[in-house]
Amino acid sequence: MPTQRTVTIIAILGLLAFILGQAATLHVHPFERRAEARTVTVQDLPTAETLPKDDGEARILDAIAQAREGQRFANVSDDDGRLLRQLTEAINAQHVVELGTSTGESGLWFSLALRKTGGRLHTFDIDPDRLAVARENFRKAGVADLITIHEGDAHVEAPKLTEPIDLLFLDAEKEGYDAYLRELLPRVRPGGLILAHNMRRPTPNPRYLEAITSDPNLDTSFLLMDGAGMGLTLKKR
Ligand SMILES: C[S@@+](CC[C@H](N)C(=O)[O-])C[C@H]1O[C@@H](n2cnc3c(N)ncnc32)[C@H](O)[C@@H]1O
Repeated sequence: MPTQRTVTIIAILGLLAFILGQAATLHVHPFERRAEARTVTVQDLPTAETLPKDDGEARILDAIAQAREGQRFANVSDDDGRLLRQLTEAINAQHVVELGTSTGESGLWFSLALRKTGGRLHTFDIDPDRLAVARENFRKAGVADLITIHEGDAHVEAPKLTEPIDLLFLDAEKEGYDAYLRELLPRVRPGGLILAHNMRRPTPNPRYLEAITSDPNLDTSFLLMDGAGMGLTLKKR
């Protein structure tokens, strides 16, 4: 029979083991604790944020923040915009073409990359009022010299460009995406990218989806599908 003293020692040792175990778990980052338990979801991840590397970048990020306080229309989210910048900078794009300027938010994201690659953005919109706001946003951000604004129907105006396109961003009227692809794919250089906004919401154009997933010359992924959704299509070399 264990004596009263033995029982007390065992209880104290048990309590100590419990306290040490709890202390050890306190050193595990909350994210690791959650990740052990199940598959990680987007909500488990730390918020990705673009931190300004220099004054020029800080000025552009400020302009984006200010633009977001105005009318948003269906402009890109921060996650979408960050992806535009990352891909533009990664492929060292010199010639970026955007259909659907709106008030210039996506253009500002492109400019974060273009000031480093030495490239240009040609951006098209049919709405002069939105373009006036975009022009002012580009001026505030100090990037007006990186961007050429074209006013008019992008189906008519964009095919007038003659330079090879490194990155084409489709973000004008959704029902026109398949026509834009037909009109501009020949201008995209081999190894160039076609990005298409709104592959999840609003409902994507089925003819465009068919075109980018059934052509052996193209290779497509769908990204950021927890938001508006982005199609990323490589024109194979
Ligand atoms: C969703 S907004 C673009 C958002 C912008 N890319 C951004 O993220 O900041 C779509 C724009 O396409 C423009 N648009 C619609 N049809 C067009 C056309 N046929 N040609 C040029 N622009 C057009 C609209 O005026 C609108 O400003």
